[in-house]
Amino acid sequence: MDLIFGTKRYRPEIRMLYDIKDLIYCKDWLKKTENIPLYYIYRDLSLTEHDRKKILSNCLRYDITIIPPRTLGIEYTKTAGHYHPHHYTEVYEVIEGEAHFLFQKGIDRLEDVVLIKAKERDKVIIPPGYGHITINPSKNVLKLANWVSRNFIAIYDPIKKRKGGAYYETVDDIIRNENYEEVPELRVIKPREYPEFGLTNRIDLYQLVNNLELLKFLNHPEEFEDIYSFRSIL
Ligand SMILES: [Fe+2]
Repeated sequence: MDLIFGTKRYRPEIRMLYDIKDLIYCKDWLKKTENIPLYYIYRDLSLTEHDRKKILSNCLRYDITIIPPRTLGIEYTKTAGHYHPHHYTEVYEVIEGEAHFLFQKGIDRLEDVVLIKAKERDKVIIPPGYGHITINPSKNVLKLANWVSRNFIAIYDPIKKRKGGAYYETVDDIIRNENYEEVPELRVIKPREYPEFGLTNRIDLYQLVNNLELLKFLNHPEEFEDIYSFRSIL
């Protein structure tokens, strides 16, 4: 399933069911299911060579992720989920479909768990210190874009160790993950705009390629008090 972006064709990195088998709520369903593809990640996209140079010189990366609708037993399909090291952040846009972003702050002890329900054109910033999982809770394809720093490697182990995020979202309920000793009450919130970073519903996320200094917070969150302290984000 290649993606045509501009004039280029991109090959996806495919995440398979068995890649995230430890994180699935319905273990009985998993036992009787073959290894199917779950989602497709197209990394490091750019429309032109000129854009590519700008993106690289700002140490950024633009990716697209496609998550087809599916239930894993009774649980909605989702990404593996990870944390970022050193307080790196990330920004997402829902290009198509509906996304539920599950954020959890802290690794050994969870301090905050948030679910952001986002729809087409919404922008969502992942604040420093929060692990994140993306859920497709609909019957439609979910297509996401993100800008992220090129300077870090995501950390998958903590979520794998706990067999998923703090909560599982199923077709009829949101279920607490018993593998965490203490889980704060889930805060369900709506996305907001961040005009100070050019992140409004009017723009396509890729357009920021013409204004990459607005995305400085992705490599230097410590210089942005609101981002760093999560004020006005969540
Ligand atoms: Fe991430």
